[in-house]
Amino acid sequence: MLIRSPLKFESYGAVKIYDITRVVCLYGVDFERKHGVFNLTSEDLLKTAESTSIVIPVKNEDPLVLEGVLRAIPLHSPVIIISNSSQSPLDIYSSEIDLAKNIHQLSGRPVVVIHQKDPVVSELLKDGVPGLVDESEGVVRDGKGEGLLLGTLAAEGLNSKYVGYIDADNFIPGAVLEYALVYYTALSMSKSPYKMVRISWGFKGWYGSDLFLRRWGRVSGVVSNVFNYALSRGRRFETDIIKTSNSGEHAMSIELAKILNFASRYAVETHELVHILDTCYVRMKENACRALPNNIDVIQVESRNPHLHVEKGEVHILEMLVESLGSIYHSSMADQEVRASILKLLRELSYEEEPVKPRVYGYPNMNAKKFLNDILSRSEVSVAYGL
Ligand code: GDD
Repeated sequence: MLIRSPLKFESYGAVKIYDITRVVCLYGVDFERKHGVFNLTSEDLLKTAESTSIVIPVKNEDPLVLEGVLRAIPLHSPVIIISNSSQSPLDIYSSEIDLAKNIHQLSGRPVVVIHQKDPVVSELLKDGVPGLVDESEGVVRDGKGEGLLLGTLAAEGLNSKYVGYIDADNFIPGAVLEYALVYYTALSMSKSPYKMVRISWGFKGWYGSDLFLRRWGRVSGVVSNVFNYALSRGRRFETDIIKTSNSGEHAMSIELAKILNFASRYAVETHELVHILDTCYVRMKENACRALPNNIDVIQVESRNPHLHVEKGEVHILEMLVESLGSIYHSSMADQEVRASILKLLRELSYEEEPVKPRVYGYPNMNAKKFLNDILSRSEVSVAYGL
């Protein structure tokens, strides 16, 4: 893959946010580089793919669509499915296990499948990650953010250097392949051990409605604007640098994941940026930044394939907006003006309350390899093929 090297960036303390860049050519290795374009040698592509675990969070998606996603991920990357799908009355989870088993049998690739409500998982994490386990139910809480945290721990347990996240409700397998190639290529652009790649879908649409490919999503556009407003006010220089506040498809180094806080549910992607900027920009002088003396590189890439996913309705959109804005609203990034603008925006959407502060989980300091081994040796629901 050829990606335009992102030249323009803005520095906020130790955080370097690169302006959005684009995919120039979907596939190309061992290519003599033109000025201003980045690509990998086949050797580096393989090495990076092998060091990158791909985590797929899934909750009751169509197994046919999940199968397309699984088949699209390059074979050299280990796959980790974190499922919160139902086991009864309809056992969707068992279909996911069958898909994982099939793909392993046909290709030999390693696949790990962990159920979010696995009692072994909650037992192993209840002390290490305060708040993650719902006390009344005794299992890990619902939520995409919660799923990503489990997936990241499993990726660390597999000894991966990087972790990339790809949603399970993607109708275009070619787009999934593109996301993986963007991760390998863009992660290799940065020399910092602390780095993140965030994808902005070039075109997006919903499966089932009349096809119309939009440039801007209904959540990321709004939340990125609020984010930029907060950054602009704090620094007194107007900026529009953030384009990927809600990037569902993103990847990072495990080194960065280990100094992050993961937020619950759909606040997770926005909160990664909030946490990085809170610790390594706003509170950097208070010794809050564990990345120092390194920079944290945030690279934003616009993908080329259209992103077609399931239309889950207006309530779902509002839920994602409120949860993401809640992360900014309750952070050190937001002054009175920013908070007032968030409340105004929500009122225009007929949401009258203050957004709730998302639950936040610190990345646990534990032996991740042992965590994964313990799950796989003791669990009756989570499985691995080919490890
Ligand atoms: N493990 C797990 N646990 N996965 C979950 C859960 C959960 O509780 N809830 C949802 N998921 C999975 C879904 O099955 C899907 O694969 C992925 O997480 C994204 O969830 P969706 O509910 O489909 O989100 P979306 O497609 O509407 O929104 C996407 O885009 C937003 C930006 O516009 C997501 O990626 C958002 O996170 C993102 O902010």
